Amino acid sequence: MSAPIRFVEVGPRDGLQNEARMVPLQAKAAFVEALAAAGLGEVEAGAFVSPKAVPQMADSEELFKLLERRPGVVYSALVPNEKGLERALAAKADKVAVFTAVSESFNRKNINATVAESLERFKPVVAQAKRAGLPVRGYVSTAFHCPYEGPVAPRKAVSVCEELLALGVDELSVGDTIGKACPHEVRALLSLLLEKVAVERVFLHFHDTYGMAVANALSAWRDFGVTGFDASAGGLGGCPYAPGASGNVATEDLAFALQSEGATVTVDWEAVKAAALALEPALGRPLSSHLSKVRRTS
Ligand code: HMG
Ligand code: MG
Repeated sequence: MSAPIRFVEVGPRDGLQNEARMVPLQAKAAFVEALAAAGLGEVEAGAFVSPKAVPQMADSEELFKLLERRPGVVYSALVPNEKGLERALAAKADKVAVFTAVSESFNRKNINATVAESLERFKPVVAQAKRAGLPVRGYVSTAFHCPYEGPVAPRKAVSVCEELLALGVDELSVGDTIGKACPHEVRALLSLLLEKVAVERVFLHFHDTYGMAVANALSAWRDFGVTGFDASAGGLGGCPYAPGASGNVATEDLAFALQSEGATVTVDWEAVKAAALALEPALGRPLSSHLSKVRRTS
């Protein structure tokens, strides 16, 4: 049997951070709990970022407090700086993620720093998180395309990945922030990146604006043996600082595609879909995932 696919469920963070309506705390907690019950080993539940920057994540402390945690499931959170880490530690997050980008324009809009400044800012964050015994993920946004600067050279993306690894992050999440990458671009980046880092430490984070995310993931899995993928139940999401970017690839769509192609998938995608559908009234809009629509046509 092939190595199992490891999903990081980012719907409660990447998904909900970009929803027009504020989802009530109880509904968020029920969503996270349902996702964990669906077999997702890691759920990125919130973000300890500035509440002015992303109001939808302002209740992350309360959410972490309210959650009934399932043994064995990792409940992680984004932290942009030391203040964010303090909040994450107080909330007893199991893992934290720092985030930067390859392109300067996006990084400035997202976290008000140059790439170099952000890496400098992360040094004490990563060190303190490690001292506290927490694993750390490093996100690399705009690894393929930038909404402001256009196509991104793979070697530039790899260089930011290397800088994050040098800071001590345990894993990378390489992001197609605006969902525009195609399989040949994913292969170009992975060919370079996997010379520098073991495949087990690489997660791919595909948004699905141009409908290429499943094709990209299948290529990464089949051609390079990547098994780490971020995905968002129902296809929720986007990024408030990447205009026009649609949601992440839907967890249920990606799980279905990978399993159908022969990968080992332990997630119950019907349960993931049900968790996302239960959120539809609070979102006030239909989900975008393919599988969520199957009920309406069959
Ligand atoms: P800044 O304005 O440069 O920071 O923002 P500052 O240090 O000058 O602080 C300004 C104010 O924010 C102060 O409050 C701070 O206390 C407060 P004031 O004195 O004005 O009342 N503040 C905080 N409050 C709570 N928690 C904190 C925190 N830090 C400062 N941690 C900063 C810089 C990074 C803080 C801000 O720009 C920010 O929070 N940005 C986050 C943006 C964000 O969350 N974007 C979405 C996530 S990234 C993403 O979606 C991409 C990803 O999915 C991968 C992909 O798709 O590519 C990960
Ligand atoms: Mg994202």
